[in-house]
Amino acid sequence: MQIAELPINPRAVTWNRRVEAVLNRVVRGKDRVLGRLGLGGRVADYDDEHYQFIGGANDEMRRKHYDKSLRLLWKAEAAAPWSTFHDLGAAEQALREMAELATSPAEQQVRARLTSAEFKAELDRHYTPRQKQAIVNVLSAIGHGEAYAWLVSASNLRDVRSSGAKAAVTMQVLEEAKHFVVMRELVGAFGVPVPRQSAWEYLLLEGVLAADGLEKFYGMNVLVETIALSIFGALAHLPGLEILRLFHLDESRHTALPMNYLKEFPLTQRQQRGFFARRRRLRMALPTLPLILLLEEDLAILGIDAFEFAGSVLRKVAHLSERAGFYLPRPAPEMLARFNGLFNLYCRLTRPGHLPRDFMDAETSKDRVVARTEREIFASEVVVEAGPRVAQA
Ligand SMILES: [Fe+2]
Ligand SMILES: [Fe+2]
Repeated sequence: MQIAELPINPRAVTWNRRVEAVLNRVVRGKDRVLGRLGLGGRVADYDDEHYQFIGGANDEMRRKHYDKSLRLLWKAEAAAPWSTFHDLGAAEQALREMAELATSPAEQQVRARLTSAEFKAELDRHYTPRQKQAIVNVLSAIGHGEAYAWLVSASNLRDVRSSGAKAAVTMQVLEEAKHFVVMRELVGAFGVPVPRQSAWEYLLLEGVLAADGLEKFYGMNVLVETIALSIFGALAHLPGLEILRLFHLDESRHTALPMNYLKEFPLTQRQQRGFFARRRRLRMALPTLPLILLLEEDLAILGIDAFEFAGSVLRKVAHLSERAGFYLPRPAPEMLARFNGLFNLYCRLTRPGHLPRDFMDAETSKDRVVARTEREIFASEVVVEAGPRVAQA
């Protein structure tokens, strides 16, 4: 290619380069010394000489989370055609229309795009006002959690090392933003009052957001996201809530993120097993128990036993925590046995004729798609029951 070069002053070019080289040594030297003394230094954990973030490429993490998230990225316009979202690109829209042309009239009827009014009418047809309120009470608790998941994951971007891990966490930030705005619209479609955050949820989520560095991985990705994942698992089979399978798929990737990251960059023994770290983790988790008690009535209306739900959440949290190296004050089987004792005591006091049982063995995820996903993460069998448990109105 013919390019007409412009004249330059070679002496000026040389001088500019020399000045830059001196300044470079001064600026970086000063930041290196301050960094070593623990007095500050370079703010960005970026290694421009290797064109990577500190920690290296970590392509494994990028493949497992960033690439996979993009492969599984779902759009609200396709998953919730009744909503106000217009997030499909022209090519996706065209593909969708071609696929619709290829389906039979009967299939087209099933896949017909519901308008917002039709979706609301569907919800009214399936649920009583009290059932709608119960769904909104449970889902909005998760919706408030999505707001915090968005903030916490954004702040984790600063704490994880390597380009691959930052790419992975960036996908979580994007997915939490989508979860928050789509969940808000889904909850709004039920047309019943949306409750504020409960005090227990406020304490839990503020505690997670304020936690130090990677302890936020424990608080959000292990603890809070396992609760969210279990709620999605318990509700995704209900009419109008099928979109929760997509939320569940994303949350399952988010719960696996700390394990995959800490395999590459393990916590120190002290971070894993330190006396204070273990106690802090237990303290962070404690508000979840009264929170589940507060939701007992709404869960019961939806056919979900609050203690079976809590047992299945605690079992999953204990499993993921130990695999990631976030140890709790006592080994998982001992902690679970103690909580099971507490649950049975509460039930003996509040449920006439209660017989002692193992709530930690329970599984409240009912949907087949959800069960398949959970088997991959928790490597254990999940009991599946097809069909809704809520009586139709
Ligand atoms: Fe989420
Ligand atoms: Fe999440």
